[in-house]
Amino acid sequence: MDVQGKLAIITGSGMGLGKAFAIKLLEAGAMVCISDVDEATGEKTTLEFAEKFGNNRVHFIKCNVLEKDDIVNLYEGCEKHFGRSVDIFCNNAGINHVKGWRLCMDIDIMAVMECAEYVIDKMDKRKGGKGGLIVNTASIAGIVVGWNRESACYFVAKHGVVVLTRTLGTSKLLKETGVKVQCICPSFADTNILADIGTQAFSGPISDVGGMQGFLINKIPILKAAVEKKFGLMTPEYVAEGFMKLVTKCNTGDAICIVKDVPPFIYNDMSKEFVMFLGIGAKLFKAAFGVELFTPQHQMAFFLMVFILANVLLHFLTSFLF
Ligand SMILES: NC(=O)c1ccc[n+]([C@@H]2O[C@H](COP(=O)([O-])OP(=O)(O)OC[C@H]3O[C@@H](n4cnc5c(N)ncnc54)[C@H](O)[C@@H]3O)[C@@H](O)[C@H]2O)c1
Repeated sequence: MDVQGKLAIITGSGMGLGKAFAIKLLEAGAMVCISDVDEATGEKTTLEFAEKFGNNRVHFIKCNVLEKDDIVNLYEGCEKHFGRSVDIFCNNAGINHVKGWRLCMDIDIMAVMECAEYVIDKMDKRKGGKGGLIVNTASIAGIVVGWNRESACYFVAKHGVVVLTRTLGTSKLLKETGVKVQCICPSFADTNILADIGTQAFSGPISDVGGMQGFLINKIPILKAAVEKKFGLMTPEYVAEGFMKLVTKCNTGDAICIVKDVPPFIYNDMSKEFVMFLGIGAKLFKAAFGVELFTPQHQMAFFLMVFILANVLLHFLTSFLF
């Protein structure tokens, strides 16, 4: 989408990644409605943007994404203020797990679902809307498995955001409604969300988070410091560059991964194909070897067999052709 002249709403954009996304959109010529549950931060950011980009291109509306009335007021208030329809809605507000799993799930997935449902209806071409784009802020935590009990809710919620994006982001829904749905999956970025993690007691090893095998979080109590030391942190601006690539260049349903010092990449879902592939393997192994349960060990053997077969076939074809 060419964002020049478009109208965007970003939830939780008083600071952090949402604020950085807003800057990129404004720099590219869009109008942005800043929104946050924290009124003081939201207003301060809006004032800063108004001075830099012009009063007519930014507006602030307070919204707690947990409240449906606030969501409606945000959307309708934004359209009323700018006198036109919303083109881009960024479901960005989010928290970590420190205040408990239920609130984390309520904000990080339930509210995302609520907003997506509402916004699709508003943008739906069949219902008088003009179509548009929904961008959900997921996380790498929406792709990899979690590392401990305390933060499990965050990973569960972000997995929900990724699968919601892929489920809604189909060419069928786009054709019917004119609405694209995408998500951004950043790794660790230097924002407030990391600041208060680690002041509570962490237990046990991080089993596998992007190569963090064997890394004991309880040896270094502050997660932000630990992550910074181990991986470095991305700046919000760096993540926002990836956000712009997603918005301007990518397709509906796309999940873009943003990792420090790595070019952004689309992480396609191949689960359906993989399930079918394993199903074929399970059938073959039952027929050939009487295997009743197709375990990961059987699967490795199956992959090896397919690999060897593919090589033999390729060798045969190339020798036949040349
Ligand atoms: N920083 C990271 O490492 C990282 C990595 C991956 C994904 N994310 C995601 O990015 C998004 C933005 O987080 P951030 O890193 O900028 O953190 P942040 O804490 O700097 O910003 C989050 C913003 O959301 C607002 N917010 C919180 N609860 C809200 C609510 N109920 N209604 C409306 N606004 C609310 C906060 O006031 C704050 O302004 C989140 O969804 C987060 O999960 C962050």
